[in-house]
Amino acid sequence: LHSTLAAQNLLVSLVLVQLARPDPNPSAATISQTYNLARLLQANTTKLLNTYLSTQGSPFSDPGFSALGLRWAGVPVATFPFLAWRSMGDSERLARNYGAYATFDAFLQLVWDDQDELCPDCSELLTMLGTARARTRGLLANLTSIMAAMGIPTPPATDPLTSEAAEVGAFEKKCRGYVVCREYHGWVDRTVRDFTLLKAKYPA
Ligand SMILES: *[C@@H]1O[C@H](CO)[C@@H](O)[C@H](O)[C@H]1NC(C)=O
Ligand SMILES: *[C@@H]1O[C@H](CO)[C@@H](O)[C@H](O)[C@H]1NC(C)=O
Repeated sequence: LHSTLAAQNLLVSLVLVQLARPDPNPSAATISQTYNLARLLQANTTKLLNTYLSTQGSPFSDPGFSALGLRWAGVPVATFPFLAWRSMGDSERLARNYGAYATFDAFLQLVWDDQDELCPDCSELLTMLGTARARTRGLLANLTSIMAAMGIPTPPATDPLTSEAAEVGAFEKKCRGYVVCREYHGWVDRTVRDFTLLKAKYPA
């Protein structure tokens, strides 16, 4: 009799433990996949930036070239004040990632077109730009799925560029491509930091 009671008590406490545990977040597995994808992308975005610079001629290919102050209107900038970034809510964090990659999706296509025209023999660079765009679409699919599971609306699809974007001079195109590759690299680093926080908050 005692052992039956003990077994029942054990069962009751096990049930209570189960009830007390918060529901696992439905997107925990996708959060972890997105983190892994961003980590894999990190090495490639460094290579993409270096390959881009080395194929554009002077001044871009000059040793130690950097023009951190150079911006291009519309290209998402990853830099963000630390405390504001750290205390950002999940919806805003995910929406900002989504918005950035939706914009890079268009800019990476534009840079691919520019390079196909300016540097048709740069097949390695063109392949890397194509892969980056495909991975960006993968990230967007991951983000859409996480946001849907969390009930966060995905921002409406935007087409941030106009066809006039193609009509700038060769040097401007090279500058634009540099800013796109540099900020894409910065954004992937930021996504790794964002998903490090999200992974800790929603363990798989
Ligand atoms: C990294 O680049 C290599 C070579 O271009 C490619 O095969 C691989 O799929 C890329 N990985 C990611 C995660 O983009
Ligand atoms: C998230 O991305 C990974 C890697 O690209 C992919 O295997 C997985 O299917 C994606 N998941 C969703 C829900 O989009």
